[in-house]
Amino acid sequence: MKKRIFFATNNKGKYKEVSEIFTDYDVDYLGNYPDFPEIIEDGETYEDNAKIKAFAVYKKFNIPVIADDSGLGVEQLDGRPGVYSARYAGENCTYDDNNNLLLKELQNFPIPHPASFFCCSVYYDGKNYLTAMGELKGVIIKEKLGGNGFGYDPIFKPMGYNNTLAELPLEEKNKISHRGKSFRELKLMIKKLSN
Ligand code: IMP
Repeated sequence: MKKRIFFATNNKGKYKEVSEIFTDYDVDYLGNYPDFPEIIEDGETYEDNAKIKAFAVYKKFNIPVIADDSGLGVEQLDGRPGVYSARYAGENCTYDDNNNLLLKELQNFPIPHPASFFCCSVYYDGKNYLTAMGELKGVIIKEKLGGNGFGYDPIFKPMGYNNTLAELPLEEKNKISHRGKSFRELKLMIKKLSN
């Protein structure tokens, strides 16, 4: 039987990506528990926030938990929106609102607009705590292209690619993405624990 693991996220896009990596686990996620109280992510770093989510969910479900916190850092904006990526355009904003605001802020800067996605993933099972980082470098482009993925994917072209992340199939995104890198490394670390 597959081992159960709980992914502390409500984000269906992230859940799909990470389930592709944890295929040998039975992965549950917060999207299946709409009554779970909102977790306040008030940390100053990606790791702080990922840890807050993992510990909150472990407390409730008592099974091994994985969590992540991720975001986009744009060089010309001194690393913004960073840990504030999800709510960049304000509370309850849409992905489109965030993309529009970012493009507006970059209007007066010369191209290219170098940027990186970052992801910190963590694991907590009540005893062991593990963490892994992943980065994906690229540029922000002016027009929104593609219908896959989520968040800033339509305006982000990974380095060496002619397509945005939203134009790539999920498997392709996972191979190169910050989240893919981070969770693949985390999974190796988890496997070592159980040996
Ligand atoms: P989190 O759920 O607090 O980690 O928020 C991450 C936010 O960063 C998301 O809501 C997106 O706006 C952005 N983000 C993180 N990873 C990605 C990605 O793979 N593609 C596009 N946007 C992302």
